[in-house]
Amino acid sequence: MGLSSSSRGPLASALLLCFCMLLLGVHGGSRRLYIVYLGDVKHGHPNDVIASHHDLLINILGSKEDSLASMVHNYKHGFSGFAAMLTEEQAKQLAESPEVISLEPSRSYTATTTRSWDFLGLGSQIPSDLLREGRYGEDIIIGVVDSGIWPESRSFSDEGYGPVPSRWRGVCQVGQGWDLNNCSRKIIGARFYSVGQDEENLKMDFLSPRDKGGHGTHTASTAAGSVVDGVSFHGLGAGAARGGAPRARIAVYKSLWGPGSRGSTIGILAAIDDAIHDGVDVLSLSIGGPVDTDSFGALHAVKKGITVVYSAGNDGPRPQTVGNTVPWVITVAASTIDRSFPTVITLGNKQQIAGQSLYYQDKNSARSSFRNLTTTGVGVFCTEEALNGTDLKGRIALCFPTQPQIAPRLEFAIALRNVLNAGGSGLVFAQYTTDIPEDTANCGGIACVLVDLDTGYQILEYYMTSPSSSAVAKIEPARSFTSKEILAPKVAAFSSRGPSIYNADVIKPDIAAPGAGILAAMGDSYKFKSGTSMATPHVSGIVALLKALHPQWSPAALKSAIITTASVTDEHGMPILANGLPRKIADPFDFGGGHINPNRAADPGLIYDIDPNDYNNIIGCIIKRSASCNTTVVPGHLLNLPSISVPDLRYPVTVSRTVTNVGEVDAVYHIAIESPVGVKMEVEPSVLVFNAAIKVQTFKVKLSPMWMFQGDYTFGSLTWYNDQRTVRIPVAARITIHDFFADVA
Ligand SMILES: *[C@@H]1O[C@H](CO)[C@@H](O)[C@H](O)[C@H]1NC(C)=O
Ligand SMILES: *[C@@H]1O[C@H](CO)[C@@H](O)[C@H](O)[C@H]1NC(C)=O
Ligand SMILES: *[C@@H]1O[C@H](CO)[C@@H](O)[C@H](O)[C@H]1NC(C)=O
Ligand SMILES: *[C@@H]1O[C@H](CO)[C@@H](O)[C@H](O)[C@H]1NC(C)=O
Repeated sequence: MGLSSSSRGPLASALLLCFCMLLLGVHGGSRRLYIVYLGDVKHGHPNDVIASHHDLLINILGSKEDSLASMVHNYKHGFSGFAAMLTEEQAKQLAESPEVISLEPSRSYTATTTRSWDFLGLGSQIPSDLLREGRYGEDIIIGVVDSGIWPESRSFSDEGYGPVPSRWRGVCQVGQGWDLNNCSRKIIGARFYSVGQDEENLKMDFLSPRDKGGHGTHTASTAAGSVVDGVSFHGLGAGAARGGAPRARIAVYKSLWGPGSRGSTIGILAAIDDAIHDGVDVLSLSIGGPVDTDSFGALHAVKKGITVVYSAGNDGPRPQTVGNTVPWVITVAASTIDRSFPTVITLGNKQQIAGQSLYYQDKNSARSSFRNLTTTGVGVFCTEEALNGTDLKGRIALCFPTQPQIAPRLEFAIALRNVLNAGGSGLVFAQYTTDIPEDTANCGGIACVLVDLDTGYQILEYYMTSPSSSAVAKIEPARSFTSKEILAPKVAAFSSRGPSIYNADVIKPDIAAPGAGILAAMGDSYKFKSGTSMATPHVSGIVALLKALHPQWSPAALKSAIITTASVTDEHGMPILANGLPRKIADPFDFGGGHINPNRAADPGLIYDIDPNDYNNIIGCIIKRSASCNTTVVPGHLLNLPSISVPDLRYPVTVSRTVTNVGEVDAVYHIAIESPVGVKMEVEPSVLVFNAAIKVQTFKVKLSPMWMFQGDYTFGSLTWYNDQRTVRIPVAARITIHDFFADVA
């Protein structure tokens, strides 16, 4: 099956690392791990690439021995570079070598189902066009850079699969709890990257591609899990589980370790380097917050035709929290779906109100009954201090977060711990959002439920107006409920928001996909999880289907198809909302082009394509942020992106865009302009005609500030349309003060 084991085992890697650590101790100098990036691979054989890295290092360190001792990893397939232990002084010297494009310390990163596919119109009961025409992703290879995989999960059965595609050049790297049999026709390759990782995290994990924490299994099964019927979490969310491209092959690149799924630049870049060599078609990275200085790995992948899909991060709803914002990747926001888990709370006055939870009863649980309802006595917070010495035996506690906007999940976890310590038998926790039902899946055996703030105040009022200690409540087990009447999708509150701090001239995130309350494989069972980590593999699976359907499309073309066909309204025609404080209509910094619409993406009509070499003009700026980057560098909004962002609109700005017709040969498109408030937007020409001779057309967009000072972003869109199609791109502009004072002077 074209599988082989890796020649250099984990032991050798581990020894090398120990050796480095030893050196660190002996010299007592403060060395740290640096990532040195050298650009394209300039030698044929990987060994020659490695030799050239050593030559460079010997220049600085003086001897071959020292070079060997400080080298930790060589990047030699997809791009050239290395990771080495260096003192600050050595790093400074090395950075001055003309070959070195960038040199940065290695940073650490963290990892950021069923119903969601039907909701996206990709149900398998009545296979949609895209699913059928995309042959369920057959023979597309999705590389998943995550915490590994659990090969025994039914989601990764390889029953009925043909041979591994002959172009596959990957390996099956054996290790702890993982042998060659664990690779299959479904999991066609597996590698792991332990070098340079935190020792404690490694100890708590399998030193192999096997996934201990479950994050990687969840994301891989969401992208490409085979169809598994009759899946649920204790009866909740019951249905068939499957990935977006259920016949796609999976290549595992384990780079996240330990209970917190943590990793660092050295391993993530090594995974990308190998994935380019191995021949993946799509790379799925549910990894939060890389600073864009190390995004050159993804650029090399894109230059090889690999679509790279990253999560936007879970730091919403605050603005400017979006991560992974370079223009060559797809950055994914998370949305809610039309399924909820209503949990009925009955108050002593017979009033019934609904919260959200995954609370279930098994045969050992106490049945639901009325219990005394109480606050902690110190306001409505359930901090350790407030509950110190309180006896909550037999009572349900009503708790509010101390700072609703900051860390609602953490506050819930703290309140739950304190209520359990105080012997409570139930928890009603008020939040401004109830997007994350799985937080209530394991409440230490007590009933717990999330309610929104308004509902929380309603319960509080009942409590306050009841005679002393007579307030009671009953919490019923949750039910799964799927309905058109649930307002969905909405951008999930936790989903990170734009604009990007670094690349404000590119709209990010690019797209929203389901990421709240997603049921997928974890170990041998199925569990709910929420996060942009869950939204990312939805997009990766859809890209696999699109790629099977349109094998020649570039990563930029696939991304364009996804963005220009996204929905900005729900199926009732109402604008899609973004959860947060306050809730509002979603704008491009919440969800880019909108909510993903896979069936429409299959046939977008026009695409905004980009030659990956065009990114060269801005990569220097992004990865170096130094002298070589100056204002004459091409701003991101001049790239042929399916979006326009002008963060500094002082004077009229004209950008041009080029579209390629991929629909019917003879087609006429008209423009519909929705200008951002305060901006006059003109498009020239306003009609595009395509025929057998003309497949590509260029148009100009002029944005003129109509106000002198606006200060905040406003949003609009440009839509090319005809009878069959609409091709929409989002526009963001921020009018800044023009040289008003200079004019006066
Ligand atoms: C994976 O390998 C382990 C031994 O390393 C074996 O016990 C297990 O059954 C294998 N699983 C699969 C799915 O082949
Ligand atoms: C509530 O507490 C009161 C006083 O502590 C007690 O008498 C009563 O039985 C409790 N009610 C319930 C439903 O547990
Ligand atoms: C809890 O109360 C005890 C006794 O009053 C006190 O010593 C302790 O510091 C308190 N702990 C917290 C976390 O407030
Ligand atoms: C700025 O960039 C331009 C074009 O790349 C280059 O010619 C010029 O020397 C640069 N200026 C500085 C100060 O680096």
